[in-house]
Amino acid sequence: MKILIKNGTIVTSEGNNISDVLIENQKIKTVEGKIEENADKVIDAKEKYLLPGGIDPHVHMRLPTPAGFSSDDFETGSKAALFGGTTTIIDFVTPQRGQSMVEALEERKEEAKTSLVDHSFHVSPVEWNDSTENEIKECIKRGITSFKVYMAYKNAIGLEDDELLNVMKVAAKEGVIVTAHCEADDEIGELREQFAAKGKLSPKAHALSRPPALEAKAVRKAIEMAAETGCMLYIVHVSSAQSIKIIREAQKKGQKVIAETCPQYLLLDDSKYQGVFDEAAKYVMSPPLRKKEDNNILWQAIADNTINSIGTDHCPFISQQKRIGKEDFRKIPNGAGGVEHRLALLHTFGVLQDRFSLNRFVDITSTKPAKIFGLYPQKGEIAPGSDADIVIWNPKARNTISTITHHQLSDLSIYEGMQTIGAPEIVINKGKIAIEGSKLLQRDAYGVFLEREKYSFSS
Ligand code: URP
Ligand code: ZN
Repeated sequence: MKILIKNGTIVTSEGNNISDVLIENQKIKTVEGKIEENADKVIDAKEKYLLPGGIDPHVHMRLPTPAGFSSDDFETGSKAALFGGTTTIIDFVTPQRGQSMVEALEERKEEAKTSLVDHSFHVSPVEWNDSTENEIKECIKRGITSFKVYMAYKNAIGLEDDELLNVMKVAAKEGVIVTAHCEADDEIGELREQFAAKGKLSPKAHALSRPPALEAKAVRKAIEMAAETGCMLYIVHVSSAQSIKIIREAQKKGQKVIAETCPQYLLLDDSKYQGVFDEAAKYVMSPPLRKKEDNNILWQAIADNTINSIGTDHCPFISQQKRIGKEDFRKIPNGAGGVEHRLALLHTFGVLQDRFSLNRFVDITSTKPAKIFGLYPQKGEIAPGSDADIVIWNPKARNTISTITHHQLSDLSIYEGMQTIGAPEIVINKGKIAIEGSKLLQRDAYGVFLEREKYSFSS
């Protein structure tokens, strides 16, 4: 199958140029000013951008929680991803305590076989025992080059400090990344109990019990441990100005610390917790939404390279699940969907509001995640030899985000009613047209598990 895309503006992390692109089977074959070649399909992309397929480095499909699984599985979640121009996702493997990470990885790979897009996982050590080091090494042999630690949720999957240090030591020795959810769990646990004891059980208490200072405290600790062990640290879903300040200081000293944020921490704030339960519960996530000032600092941190990756933490639930916590915020499942809208939101509120360039948009949504997580140049680039994951982006398309039209499997959207400018017109997923306008043309699940290299990220 050959597809020839003519006259599009190729946007990379480095620059723009108008060129033709020839795709043969799953790969990009040629990128040149003018290509004359017989193809099965010719697409005129005049006045459209060609973007490398989005890479969302932080999604949770079918995440088990006490309120049931998050509502998108790999099939529905990857479909939503494709509609938004994301062609690669990195999800998680969270073993049961006592279960081997390798076994849990193989189980998760089976679950992900319904994915329409290529995928990988960050694997979580949820304890430290005699076999943990060997399990990490075995996961690396199987193409896993990032390991997720939780400083939150100690009663379930979170690590104690000494365990975290051990994980970092091994990661440093093996040249792989530790990705960290940074929230100081002991203090948060105390605050949660205090709010509950005072009868403060609404979603607002969720946010108040997880203040920015406790994110920053964990960020500082993780950075210090990473410095001590020499481990490459990637801090997930950074939400606050206080954390950014600490990360920036470490980066200035030359430490390898990468920061990720998510659209919700750029666009939404804690006023969302004021509403009635059904409204406020949508926004219950960890870390919680912060203040407008935090939003602004995070935008600046993308522009000045402190933040180099944007994930979504896609973890939707349906309203029935959120209602399990109607009488007690501690029972509300944490998380919200977003995989479908990451590119449109960042284009609208980042590029079009002059917060960063079109090239930086591609960089943080595709190229940098590919480099950081060992997928480059197979992914994250429009160049000969790369996978033919290409988004033909109409920069003028207007949409209103709504549960009526979105594709994630949930009756909730934290972005309900937001207006976006810019959308995929065609999404090519490994050489085949997967999405055309509002139509899903991809019928089968040909996403594969990606064995990743170690990181190739230097600045
Ligand atoms: O609230 C969130 N973020 N839910 C997903 C799980 C996690 O904490 O990353
Ligand atoms: Zn997460």
